[in-house]
Amino acid sequence: MPKLIGIKKINIAVFISGTGSNLKNLINYSFKKNSKFKIVLVVSNNLRAKGLIYAKQFKIKKKIVHYSNIKNAEKKILETLKKNKIDLICLAGFMKILSKNFIKNFKNKIINIHPSLLPKYKGLNTHQRAIENKEKYSGCTVHFVNSKLDSGKIILQKKVKILKNDTFKTLKIRVLKQEHLIYPKALKKILSNL
Ligand code: GAR
Repeated sequence: MPKLIGIKKINIAVFISGTGSNLKNLINYSFKKNSKFKIVLVVSNNLRAKGLIYAKQFKIKKKIVHYSNIKNAEKKILETLKKNKIDLICLAGFMKILSKNFIKNFKNKIINIHPSLLPKYKGLNTHQRAIENKEKYSGCTVHFVNSKLDSGKIILQKKVKILKNDTFKTLKIRVLKQEHLIYPKALKKILSNL
């Protein structure tokens, strides 16, 4: 991570594909008095991602990249990240897998939030699978991104009890609440020694 010089803040790009509640939450957190980061770019693979409204609302630059060709898409994203002097990438509901080459360009500078207690339930449909497997707990994890899906070093996790009548929807809502608590905390944790 680059050192903070004086009051210079870390420039963050948040990648989204959908609702963007984590994006909104991180933006709000970035406005707090002692926040060490600034969200300067929102990247989306989806033109219709609801979360793009927050880029508009808070006057943050946005980059929408079509993923018909991964190589081209990532090339465009990397160019935009460089142009905007991005120090750190936060994946927040970004539903595309980044290539090894992309990750190499931002080694240890990409973090992700995942809706399960990793290493359990990597990939998709985490809540559904946790309920079907009669797990007592689900939860969420913030972790560094490496070249293996949902497998990088864990920064923070939060457990959420699965209730008897939970459906995937009710569980998702409760887990999302915890995501909004741990994502800023995880950022604070990795930026605190700067
Ligand atoms: C969140 O639950 C996040 O953990 C999950 O997508 C949701 C996005 O919600 N991410 C993944 O599943 C990544 N594999 P949001 O758009 O409201 O932040």
